[in-house]
Amino acid sequence: MDKKLINYSQCWEDPQVLIEALSIHPTDHVLSITSGGDNTLTLLLAGAGKVDSIDLNPAQNYLLEFKKSAAKCLAYDEYLELMGARDSKHREELFRKVRANLSPTVDTWWSRHKDLIEKGVIHCGRFERFIIFFARYILPLIHSRRTIYKLLNCKNIQEQRDFYTRQWNSWRWRFFFGLASNRLMLKRYARQKGMFSYTEGQTVADVYRQRLERHLKSVPIQGNYFLHYSLTGGYDKELPPYLEEHGYQLLRKIPESALSISTDNLLTYLRSIPDDTFSKFNLSDIFEALSIADNDIVWQEIIRTAKSGAVIAYWNNLVKRSYPAQQSVLIKTDENQLHNLRAKDKVFFYDSFHAHTIYK
Ligand SMILES: C[S@@+](CC[C@H](N)C(=O)[O-])C[C@H]1O[C@@H](n2cnc3c(N)ncnc32)[C@H](O)[C@@H]1O
Repeated sequence: MDKKLINYSQCWEDPQVLIEALSIHPTDHVLSITSGGDNTLTLLLAGAGKVDSIDLNPAQNYLLEFKKSAAKCLAYDEYLELMGARDSKHREELFRKVRANLSPTVDTWWSRHKDLIEKGVIHCGRFERFIIFFARYILPLIHSRRTIYKLLNCKNIQEQRDFYTRQWNSWRWRFFFGLASNRLMLKRYARQKGMFSYTEGQTVADVYRQRLERHLKSVPIQGNYFLHYSLTGGYDKELPPYLEEHGYQLLRKIPESALSISTDNLLTYLRSIPDDTFSKFNLSDIFEALSIADNDIVWQEIIRTAKSGAVIAYWNNLVKRSYPAQQSVLIKTDENQLHNLRAKDKVFFYDSFHAHTIYK
């Protein structure tokens, strides 16, 4: 695999859940894992004074700079077109308008990857290409377009439940979903290398099917752009915050100094940071790819670099990871808040969302 290719061209973690858990203030200094860039941008939109966005894959950071620069340089309709949220025949022309705002390395990288721009950058990740393949070629073998839209247009949980049980959950659905989402397929075509290193003993396809089932029976579908993208390969009217017009307008006003982007491993990066620096952390589900020993070392560094009162947010997917038991005296968790946030998380495939406050 080309290490410099984009694995995630969108963030698959619900920004609303993240922002609510972190309760962002202008005085916040946030450490955020870049991934598709969306949630780093959402933290800025939510008013964080300073965001340090890091990713060990440089291409993820090039994507973040591209998204931010596109908002600065383009009119709103053009921005949606260049991103790939709307159809376009002139993305190359739009890219030319953005180039002047890109740093030389990022400009060179995107100039060499015009094929990704032509398709719309939000679709170019390895993960998104897998989802699009599923929506275009596998799902039509299971359900008609009409059935897919009927599910997406369900008005309430009761309707979702009935529809899922009566029409959606057929043997074809279970069979093809099982084929598409088994461990081998996801490892080979979807998730980033390393994300399965510590996954043990689960039938991955069954776990994800059951999570989707639980989700459809308990979280409203209306307005869920993650689900819409997963089932159709694109967005409809509902968009993630950084693509909404209001988000776009705010992004244009954010000073360059509010965002710093670094390509580094989280541990190496934290080791270069003074004590008591960050007030909020957005850590995606990066602990999943770490051994327990490395997880504990990373947590030590998180706690060292966290200010007292700092909040750390992350997701668990197939591997349960958390802070080491010996640090628990420093950590408080509002279980009630977590329960409420998990109940509305728009992404079905995680085991759980976590947020902890550190008191030193
Ligand atoms: C953790 S992945 C998201 C995985 C996705 N939610 C999934 O379950 O497949 C998000 C980003 O984290 C980055 N990443 C993973 N481990 C990292 C680490 N130790 N330091 C810095 N970035 C890391 C990856 O390069 C990727 O762009």
